[in-house]
Amino acid sequence: DRSIKIAPSILSADFANFGAEIRAIEDQGADWVHVDVMDGHFVPNLTFGPMAVKAFRPHVKTVMDVHLMIAPVDPYIDAYADAGADVLTAHVEAGPHIHRTLQAIRGAGMKAGVALNPGTPAEAVAHLLDLTDLICVMTVNPGFGGQKFIDMTAKVRALRGMIGDRPVHIEIDGGVDPNTAPLVVQAGADVLVAGSAVFKGGSVDNPEVYGANMQAI
Ligand code: DX5
Ligand code: ZN
Repeated sequence: DRSIKIAPSILSADFANFGAEIRAIEDQGADWVHVDVMDGHFVPNLTFGPMAVKAFRPHVKTVMDVHLMIAPVDPYIDAYADAGADVLTAHVEAGPHIHRTLQAIRGAGMKAGVALNPGTPAEAVAHLLDLTDLICVMTVNPGFGGQKFIDMTAKVRALRGMIGDRPVHIEIDGGVDPNTAPLVVQAGADVLVAGSAVFKGGSVDNPEVYGANMQAI
């Protein structure tokens, strides 16, 4: 299904209030919930691991979309399956055996995603298209929310052409806001991650701000 989906990143939520934050964004119309896992090694920031993700699970009624910014990935795949990830995305840059990693993610019963840093060409996934359910095109260098959008529309267009009629989502992650979203949708993206642009100005006490922010995207 190629309808446009909004996946708020809880990286921009109140870290002392994840359950309420997840319920608030879903009540306000979020299609998926995006969970950014960082290890302080693959990226220069640390967030949460499988135990926290498992604790989020009962609060997520939609799709729990887990973006691993960790290396290595393979030793943790079963832990994220057990935590209840619906989509598990690994970076193509995170190790020498992304093909094996994607097979293992599907083998553990999850949808398999592959993410590309801004410096990585579309061709890096040319031989992975039948093993993947989602390609995440990073439009910032991963590690932090609130960074400036890097234009990757040419990469998105190239990927949409390579994907053909396969059922593969193209997700955009980083700097998505009301100005940049139309560019990537036009290029062929269908899942929009947005952190700061969704949570900006709102809280669980005035969740309608989240709804308005999502509407604006
Ligand atoms: C970046 C993360 C993103 C991030 C997006 O490393 O993968 O998901 O939270 O945040 P914004 O929308 O603020 O750029
Ligand atoms: Zn992300």
